[in-house]
Amino acid sequence: MKHWIKDKVAIITGGASGIGQAIAKEAAAHGAIVVIADINEEMGKNTVRSIVENGGTAFFYSTDVTNKASIASMLAKAENAGPIKYLANSAGLQTYGTVDTTTEEVWDKTMDVNLKSMFLVTQQVLPKIRENHGGSIVNISSVQAMRCQKNVLAYATSKGAVVAMTRSMGLDHAAEGIYINCICPGSIRTPMLEYGAAQHGSLEEVLKEWGSHHPIGRIGTPEEIAKTAMFLWSPDSNFIVGQAIVADGGLGSVIL
Ligand SMILES: NC(=O)c1ccc[n+]([C@@H]2O[C@H](COP(=O)([O-])OP(=O)(O)OC[C@H]3O[C@@H](n4cnc5c(N)ncnc54)[C@H](O)[C@@H]3O)[C@@H](O)[C@H]2O)c1
Repeated sequence: MKHWIKDKVAIITGGASGIGQAIAKEAAAHGAIVVIADINEEMGKNTVRSIVENGGTAFFYSTDVTNKASIASMLAKAENAGPIKYLANSAGLQTYGTVDTTTEEVWDKTMDVNLKSMFLVTQQVLPKIRENHGGSIVNISSVQAMRCQKNVLAYATSKGAVVAMTRSMGLDHAAEGIYINCICPGSIRTPMLEYGAAQHGSLEEVLKEWGSHHPIGRIGTPEEIAKTAMFLWSPDSNFIVGQAIVADGGLGSVIL
């Protein structure tokens, strides 16, 4: 049991699905008061049900992380749940395209959901963490911030900017006991990845093939990223400031 998180509020954007959902479940298993801030009401409520059935405490507040008023409304309710000390920014979407094929609309949406949302949410949540004498924030970037496949111009750009934003915020707030880092996952089996894989052929075959590109021999699980997030939230990692932690089964380090 990780006692430092017990009875503390952990807000997880994108907590209704995939990596965010795994972070929510892991935090709840260690006694956190979990707040899921997600636009997907059905999956958010199902996640809360599953956490509560397992003895945890969780709330779902329908939130559009690109909208300041929506974030403020979520936060007002989250404050009533307990002391806000942890935030994971996991909401995101995958988009495809080159400079030739990416429309301005897709570019703007990708930047809004994957990048600007982290600025908007953190801008409102960080003062609450400060009021509660510090805590930690984890942003979910991607290994595509450092190395990328073809045809992901807007996505890779947004994730690269998350690394720079995290570094900047991390330096600004470490001295006040607010520790901000990001994780760059490789391929992780979530609905987002499954959707992408299904565009390339039979789902299981494509996932197996993608797994073979990771030196570890498989793609990752959302739970593996959740455990990395818990480490970055924990006091054990307080000397890590503004860093991008790559959790990719070796994918980003391989030449061939
Ligand atoms: N799955 C991977 O292989 C992988 C790899 C690297 C990085 N990531 C990143 O991890 C994060 C989580 O991805 P995932 O794979 O779990 O995807 P997912 O699609 O399973 O989950 C994303 C969640 O974000 C929510 N969301 C989207 N737009 C939103 C909005 N405007 N407001 C609130 N919530 C919104 C969705 O409803 C969904 O619940 C993303 O930032 C993604 O880019 C994923």
